[in-house]
Amino acid sequence: MFANSTSGVAVEWAPDTLRVKELEEQLFSMHNSLVCAFNQLLDLKDLNTGYHSTRLAEWGVRVAQELGLEDGVLRDVEVAALLHDIGKIGVPDAILKKPGRLTADEYALMKKHPEYGWAVVRLFPGLERTSFFILHHHEAYDGTGYPGELKEDEIPIGARIVSVIDAFDAMVSSRPYRQGLPFEEAMRRLDLASNKQFDPAVVRCFISIAQAEMPSVFAATGTSTSVVL
Ligand SMILES: [Fe+2]
Repeated sequence: MFANSTSGVAVEWAPDTLRVKELEEQLFSMHNSLVCAFNQLLDLKDLNTGYHSTRLAEWGVRVAQELGLEDGVLRDVEVAALLHDIGKIGVPDAILKKPGRLTADEYALMKKHPEYGWAVVRLFPGLERTSFFILHHHEAYDGTGYPGELKEDEIPIGARIVSVIDAFDAMVSSRPYRQGLPFEEAMRRLDLASNKQFDPAVVRCFISIAQAEMPSVFAATGTSTSVVL
């Protein structure tokens, strides 16, 4: 039996409770290492947007908080936001880095990446829900997405959040063959696709958080134009 001395209240903890807490901490630490390792893989494959992915994951967690999701889900949203495209490692570079339009066959292969990501991440104890957020991050709110053509609340909430984050990241990030969109234009396009591609509640939350944080993003990056991410 152990006393909790920090609270000043004599609470007795059974050894079993401490053992569970210890195991939870070990699992949490293992998940952190795993996320870091997968992030390294994304970097090696040039699939990461650098520190932007961390910022976007933070905004994803904030959206989840605003929507009142429970603590356990927040962590899953964060991991899914960081690793949602891990399955692209299974897509050939010739397709991933092709500057022009993909053929129908190439696009079909590209669309496999959510399933590839799910198949890997689901193998880790405690990341089962995260794996479903990854599996469904290309579903559309109106049911026209993939792989399951799920609609509205059928789509796991974490996947609906990652979907908005992913689209925003794709719009504002510059590629060798095109300049990223200005922040305000990306916001406008997210709003336009609300209720079609995206969950309107998620879009509203994300826009309000992103707009509130823009001044600090400008300051942190030293950017003076409207293309800040
Ligand atoms: Fe994706």
